Amino acid sequence: MKQLYIAGNWKMHKTVAESVALAKDLVAKLGASGQKVMIAPAFTALASVAAVVKGTKIRLGAQNMGPEEQGAHTGEVSVLMLKDLGVSTVILGHSERRHSYKEDDGLINKKVLLALKHGIEPILCVGETLEEREAGRLESVIGTQVREGLKGVDAAVLAKLVIAYEPVWAIGTGKTATPQDADAVHAYIRKVLAGLYGEGPAKSMCIQYGGSVKADNAKELMGMANIDGALVGGASLKAETFVPIVEF
Ligand code: 13P
Repeated sequence: MKQLYIAGNWKMHKTVAESVALAKDLVAKLGASGQKVMIAPAFTALASVAAVVKGTKIRLGAQNMGPEEQGAHTGEVSVLMLKDLGVSTVILGHSERRHSYKEDDGLINKKVLLALKHGIEPILCVGETLEEREAGRLESVIGTQVREGLKGVDAAVLAKLVIAYEPVWAIGTGKTATPQDADAVHAYIRKVLAGLYGEGPAKSMCIQYGGSVKADNAKELMGMANIDGALVGGASLKAETFVPIVEF
């Protein structure tokens, strides 16, 4: 069976103490898991959670980062600061960043290149709104987000990057894309990647699905040919709901 990459995006939840408690619980319960696992706490909890996951199989992720290495950028967190804490992955272009904070493809691309430059694995999120899907614009929206997000990314480092397909209408709504629908979009993303980098790299690219992933739909989603893992929001906030997804 293929190795899956299951990531938990804790979003704007949990105090430091709550984050540490969950991380400890996950280390205890997932220590022997064969899957690749990542958790992304809030910035404020990164240092404390880093101490808990250090030396374990759980990777530490951040939910965002600034587009510059350092300087006068009030409120931003830099790639160097993340690296300093032991962060190995960063979620970029999440739809909540794109829609609530107006992040565009150019800005997201800048962050992707910066993360790669510093050896941090970017998870580039792409996804269409319901309006875009219903207007028949699914492929053009996803295609643009993938192409623009990867601008300047060399074929040699492509394998260090992950793409997450998260249809905006499925995030936090309880609505999931059907496994077949999700798989078709993942296949389309591979087609775009093949156009950019060739069939081989497109085939081996890790593409996660995100949007109301739960223990009871994980098996079917993860069983699809083009789905290589999950980016989990709500269900990643408790060990009781996250562990069964990793170990479906
Ligand atoms: P939910 O799993 O809560 O739908 O969130 C998905 C998500 O946005 C993960 O990044």
